[in-house]
Amino acid sequence: MPLVYGALLADHAEGRVTHVVLHDLDPARLSAVTRVLAEQAADVPDAPEVTATTDLDEALRGADFVFSAIRVGGLEGRANDERVALAEGVLGQETVGAGGIAYGLRTVPVAVDIARRVARLAPDAWVINFTNPAGLVTEAMSRHLGDRVIGICDSPVGLGRRIARVLGANPKEAWIDYVGLNHLGWVRGLRVAGRDELPRLLADPDLLGSFEEGKLFGVDWLRSLGAIPNEYLHYYYFNREAVRAYQQAEKTRGAFLHEQQARFYAEMRNPDAPAWKVWDDTRAEREATYMAENRETAGAGERDEDDLSGGYEKVALALMRAIARDERTTLILNVRNQRTLSVLDTDAVIEVPCLVDANGAHPVTVDPLPDHATGLVCAVKAVEREVLAAADSGSRTTAVKAFALHPLVDSVNVARRLVDGYTAVHPGLGYLK
Ligand code: G6P
Ligand code: MN
Repeated sequence: MPLVYGALLADHAEGRVTHVVLHDLDPARLSAVTRVLAEQAADVPDAPEVTATTDLDEALRGADFVFSAIRVGGLEGRANDERVALAEGVLGQETVGAGGIAYGLRTVPVAVDIARRVARLAPDAWVINFTNPAGLVTEAMSRHLGDRVIGICDSPVGLGRRIARVLGANPKEAWIDYVGLNHLGWVRGLRVAGRDELPRLLADPDLLGSFEEGKLFGVDWLRSLGAIPNEYLHYYYFNREAVRAYQQAEKTRGAFLHEQQARFYAEMRNPDAPAWKVWDDTRAEREATYMAENRETAGAGERDEDDLSGGYEKVALALMRAIARDERTTLILNVRNQRTLSVLDTDAVIEVPCLVDANGAHPVTVDPLPDHATGLVCAVKAVEREVLAAADSGSRTTAVKAFALHPLVDSVNVARRLVDGYTAVHPGLGYLK
């Protein structure tokens, strides 16, 4: 939220956002974040007004844009997602594999409730979904909001930026040919002035090994693929190594962030704490340690300085400007497929470059995916559909099916034990009968 608010503060153009309503169920968290925003706004005369409420309906009334970034079950829930999966020898990442399914199962009912409230109280609003697993959650909300919900993730933007950088191209002028599901996509080309520059990158091992994905996946594998995968595909292509590294890690990502965020909110209980600094230090530590285990197994070393700046807020602001002021632009977003990928139905949410204007986000035509990528995309979309069906019906059997069909869950028995393990630790899964 402070990153988004920072982007809003830098926007002085006509039609800019003038009022931000913060909502959180927890008053202490709400007041901590309100303080951070107040410090950010201190020297900005035309800063958007900020109000805060723990009442979601009150927050929604009259809104033009709704940002949804929630974590059902908190970071303790995320740590439990990881722990239960790792005990079964499978991955518990919050968006990939068993962990993503568990997190999806408890998030979808809450996201659907939010979508219904938006449809009732702010029917003309655009919803920008940040909540992970972002593709699945956006699809759940789109069943109630149609194309007025758009999912965003900064990983394809970061990937495109890195490729452009190593090729010496201006990211603003480069056309990135990327498609897939959220955290499951591939860059197949990068065109500058009509010319595909990706073959030049794939042909040059030094260049290829010089940036994050080259280090993570290795030069040979990228050349075999003939494409650059989203970093989250590391969990698929190097699954054994990732699972082992997470099992051996002193703390899982969720457990680390649980402690880290608790420390932040504890520090904020001191009314004299420098709110923005405490928040920004926390953010910087989070960025620096992002995917540390994956980088360690790959021998990738530290993250590049240039990769530590995030990018969510830039996508979010560009998206709002395009819609609110009809400033046409192209952004990689999570939207309904329409006819983009012929192997999926029209309502399946995918991650794809979109033309955005006052009418919303329109996916552009892309080349079909190669068979290996189509296979993964279809398998994972089928799993997402089982998660949506389980959330809808409350069927435990359907939840087992979701886990069992995932390519990273290697036995139906494991899937059954995962459902037992997850329902035992998560009150938010009490609806599965
Ligand atoms: C990237 C991913 C997001 C994720 C974020 C933070 O930006 O695309 O989906 O939420 O990193 O990851 P972390 O492990 O710090 O929660
Ligand atoms: Mn993401």
